[in-house]
Amino acid sequence: MCGIVGGVAQRNIVPILLEGLKRLEYRGYDSAGLAVINNQTLFRKRELGKVKGLEALLQVDPIFGPIGIAHTRWATHGKPSTENAHPHVSSNKVAVVHNGIIENHEPLRGALIDEGYLFTSETDTEVIVHQLYQTMEHTQGFLKAVKLMVKKLEGAYALGIICTEEPDTLIACRKGSPLVIGVGIGEYFIASDVAALLPVTQRFIFLEEGDIASISIDKLIIYDANDEVVTRPVKESQLTADSVDKGDYRHYMLKEIYEQPFAISQALEGRFINNRLQENCFGHKAAEVFDTIKSIQILACGTSYHAGLVARYWFERLARVPCNIEVASEFRYRNPVLAENTLIVTISQSGETADTLAALQEAKRLGAKYSLAICNVPESSLVRESDLVLMTRAGPEIGVASTKAFTTQLTALMLLVIAVGRRFELTEAMEQKISSDLFKLPRKIEAVLKLDDQIKVLAEQFAEKEHALFLGRGSHYPIAMEGALKLKEISYIHAEAYPAGELKHGPLALIDSEMPVITVAPNNSLLEKLKSNIQEVSARGGQLIVFMDETLASAASENVQIIKVPQVENEISPIIYTIPLQLLSYYVAVLKGTDVDQPRNLAKSVTVE
Ligand code: M6R
Repeated sequence: MCGIVGGVAQRNIVPILLEGLKRLEYRGYDSAGLAVINNQTLFRKRELGKVKGLEALLQVDPIFGPIGIAHTRWATHGKPSTENAHPHVSSNKVAVVHNGIIENHEPLRGALIDEGYLFTSETDTEVIVHQLYQTMEHTQGFLKAVKLMVKKLEGAYALGIICTEEPDTLIACRKGSPLVIGVGIGEYFIASDVAALLPVTQRFIFLEEGDIASISIDKLIIYDANDEVVTRPVKESQLTADSVDKGDYRHYMLKEIYEQPFAISQALEGRFINNRLQENCFGHKAAEVFDTIKSIQILACGTSYHAGLVARYWFERLARVPCNIEVASEFRYRNPVLAENTLIVTISQSGETADTLAALQEAKRLGAKYSLAICNVPESSLVRESDLVLMTRAGPEIGVASTKAFTTQLTALMLLVIAVGRRFELTEAMEQKISSDLFKLPRKIEAVLKLDDQIKVLAEQFAEKEHALFLGRGSHYPIAMEGALKLKEISYIHAEAYPAGELKHGPLALIDSEMPVITVAPNNSLLEKLKSNIQEVSARGGQLIVFMDETLASAASENVQIIKVPQVENEISPIIYTIPLQLLSYYVAVLKGTDVDQPRNLAKSVTVE
């Protein structure tokens, strides 16, 4: 998704902007650009494709300046092209970078064209810059004009704006899309997330909804949505510039797969005493909230939705807690009925997913009294807007394909199952058992990661495939869904997941010797049923790859390959069976030569609807 970097410094800002853009690459983008002001003149460079293309352009034709804004664009309105890349400018005096969507761009554009403004792009963003220029024509001062201009905008935006008439001032606005201010020594920066600015500062101010900041070298003034001057706290980030490095790994995704034992140990750290969950880890109001609730409604998107699907099995099977789950983008427009005393549980790696945030708002509008976020980014919008929070502590996840965020979400969700389940039918003995199993996870995952070489070889069978099916049952059906999502996301192979029992109701027609069928087969009460489903595929010549508990007798044959997965306790086994599927997608994508960490068309943090 679009990324913003900007700054006012006592040095040439261009290298800082470029480094910031590189650090935002993981969000996904198709073009990049920057603009600076030097001696009251605006200079701009834009390029289709990667930031390194923009960097090459700047090497040939450099620009300099102490104040500037930069952007990576993820196309929404208008195709990826240099003309549509940001910054957008008006009369070569004002430049804007934007993350979000201006919903009323069409009427604004029409009115501006009638007034003689010439549009050079198809973007919604270009209306912002011309609208601002037009406002400045009859308004005293850059800041005042920005304040008036944003009142005309409907939709979501994070903005960085510079203007040659006040060449020392950078203005930042936030409504519906995240923006942080980095506090340097005698300099300030802005960015879509802290990762962009870690080489220059670890001190951050998180702008709130409706904030407008006027920033110069020695002065930062923030106005809230009511136009009052406000002081926002400066927070010290625990992250360093190195924490988002790839190290010796070829891709972030592989690094993040391998980080899972540590990430899960962090997710558990300090949250149990003697195998008893300390429920204040959800926040100081946790006990009060959990005492009241009668059911759970989970809202999430993509991989986070899959984590929620697993949790629904856990809530209902282990603790008899009624639990619903829905994709956030559907919930927000369905006008659903919410039972009284339902706890809204949102799950999001980034905490900035527009659909999930909107679904939470919708749940509140429908009367939900309490919300809880399972999230990986401490200062995110979702965290700020929820009553209770459980941080997943996965550490920064850079690969667009979610890996460690997913398994730590599952870990965190199991903690929630314990906390709520205690008030239902989850006994102390069950809690002790689940806790002790959770603490075994890091070692178990280390053991599963040893399948790496075997899976690398297996991946070779996929390089030429166009389709794949994933099967699972019970709480492993969402793991099959997650396996299919990973494969399509990074290898571009079409993949579908089915509950294995559903196969005979239609998808069995797809089975032939060209169709790989990946099956998740842990040793649980559904295993015998699953074996019958495997037979159905085998009898029709399907190419089965079965991830199976090592303690089970295997029945490999010409068209059935068995991968033995280390034995694992029943309840936590969805977490374990995720790992080989992540490795499989990764190695298939590497063989296919795709852009593993930034797959085409996708963004890490989906901040638009
Ligand atoms: O940041 P979130 O967890 O809210 O993101 C939700 C989805 O966009 C995300 O999980 C997406 O499906 C991933 N790319 C999957 O790997």
